[in-house]
Parts: sequence; C-alpha cells; structure tokens
Amino acid sequence: MTPQSKTHLLFPTVVQTTNIENAEILNEKLIGGVEALQQQIPNTKPDDWACSVYTTLHSEIDLFAINPFSKVKDIALREVSRYADTMHMQAPLANLRILDAWINVYREGDSQEMHVHQNSVFSGIYYVQAPAGCAAVMFRSSEADTMIDPPKTAVDELNSTDVMFPAVAGQMIIFRSHLRHAVLTNNTDAPRISLSFNIDVHE
Ligand SMILES: [Fe+2]
Repeated sequence: MTPQSKTHLLFPTVVQTTNIENAEILNEKLIGGVEALQQQIPNTKPDDWACSVYTTLHSEIDLFAINPFSKVKDIALREVSRYADTMHMQAPLANLRILDAWINVYREGDSQEMHVHQNSVFSGIYYVQAPAGCAAVMFRSSEADTMIDPPKTAVDELNSTDVMFPAVAGQMIIFRSHLRHAVLTNNTDAPRISLSFNIDVHE
C-alpha cells in the first residue's frame, strides 16, 4: 500500500512584473534623458563592484526630482503599493518613501554581479530600453547556499535556485530588496538601459 503523503510548498519568493501603460512614449523621453545624463554625470560605479556598467548610483543627483525621470516616481510607488497589497503587508502609498533611484546602462560586454539592495525593503527595476536579446536579470533563492544537491532529473520550480527574467522595455519588476539578483553579460550593440529604485515604509 502506498503511504499517504503530501508535498507542501513553503515560503514563496514574490516577484511582480507589470507592463506599464503608455511605456513607449515614456521611454522615448527617458532615453533622451539618459543620453543627457551620461554627458553630465560621470560613472559613479562603486569601487567594490567587479562588473562594468555605467551607473548613477550614489551620484549627487536626485533622479526622481529631474524631468523626465520624475514621471517614473508615481508609477514606482503605485507598483510597490500593489506588491505590498498582494503580500498582505501594510504599506499604503502615503507611507512609502523613496530611498534612492538610479540609472544603469549596459553596453556590449557589461554585466552586474550578484547583489542585494541593502537597507531597503522594496526594490524595483524599470526597463527604459531593452534591445532584442539583451541581458536578462537573474534572481537567486536564499536556498542556493544551503544544500548540496543530487543530480537533477528535471529542472523546475521545485529544485531551481536561479530564475531568469528577460528584460522587456516598459516592464517594471518589484521584489524584496534582500532578494539576490544579477544581470548577465549584455551582448547587444544598442545599450540595455534600466532605472532602479529602493523604497521603504515609514510610520
Ligand atoms: Fe540591483
């Protein structure tokens, strides 16, 4: 007789993707803004990043205070609020606080190593430009370091610890800031441009 057993799936990792409305018009403006930004702001890539990428992270600019990037601010807040609702977390719009927002430009050969966004609760990526075949973002489970796996008979959601999401222009991805992620090596002539942000919740 077969024993009665049940498989339980515990602790899902919640990632939200949204195709933002009227993104083509928005991205046209943002691409122009990024080109201007690159003329004005030198690459501020931190010394402890081994990868190559142009970033405005930790630069002096307040990205969401500058046109056209300010247009993404309300969308980011709205999407984080929806994500929190899905997770039954109390994070009303009025209590969300933007901690940082920055641009990343990946030219051919650029990538970003596995990392988390420290001192933040919610993080997001919005794709300003994503040429066909450009680098995917890869999320890594916290389970990745905890086991030695036997050989897999199939790779699926029960046993994989890395999940790739292709970059899609106009799409916004929201995730918890502690979720590890990386950007694979970009192989497109035209740059892959993303806008990232960190948001927390205040009383
Ligand atoms: Fe990141």
